Amino acid sequence: MERTLIVFKPDSVQRGIVGEVLTRFERVGLKIVGTKMLQPDYDHYHQHYEGIGTLKTRKGDEIFESQLKSMLVGPVIAMVLEGVDAVETVRKMVGSTEPKSALPGTIRGDYAHVSYGAANASGKSVSNIIHASADANEAEQEIAHWFSESEMYDYEAVHEKFTQPKNS
Ligand code: CDP
Ligand code: MG
Repeated sequence: MERTLIVFKPDSVQRGIVGEVLTRFERVGLKIVGTKMLQPDYDHYHQHYEGIGTLKTRKGDEIFESQLKSMLVGPVIAMVLEGVDAVETVRKMVGSTEPKSALPGTIRGDYAHVSYGAANASGKSVSNIIHASADANEAEQEIAHWFSESEMYDYEAVHEKFTQPKNS
């Protein structure tokens, strides 16, 4: 079983769509093993987006700073989800970074439509609902950054009968 981090960004918390989006992950059988609401500071996001996510290195100062600014406007809801190939499964459900390019059926494609061009023209980053770890290495580092071991729980979900079939 693999674990991944998702963060409901301030736009999804403020739009009141957290429950709807979360339902999608529960429906496919991903298991919530940790969750909390919090409002992290600049340094926490600097480590998340550059120390781990290399956003400043990849996209430059302007996008990096506008992204941190957009995360700092309000609280977020962070979760650790567990399942078979959870990182890849969740990224597939989340869709492309730019809502305009995200396909219908994906979270970013179904709940947003803005383009980089439109967002950047107003000096903003794209509001795209949710963060999800990009790969297994990022997931491991992000989970350690956002959650302590004691904030994650081990329990049996009924889906496991189907997702982890035992040899009979
Ligand atoms: O979130 P994701 O892993 O898909 O993309 P990223 O390249 O790691 O970028 C992190 C976040 O920065 C994105 O989710 C966007 O909110 C923001 N971003 C942006 O506003 N404009 C860009 N050109 C690239 C990223
Ligand atoms: Mg990323």
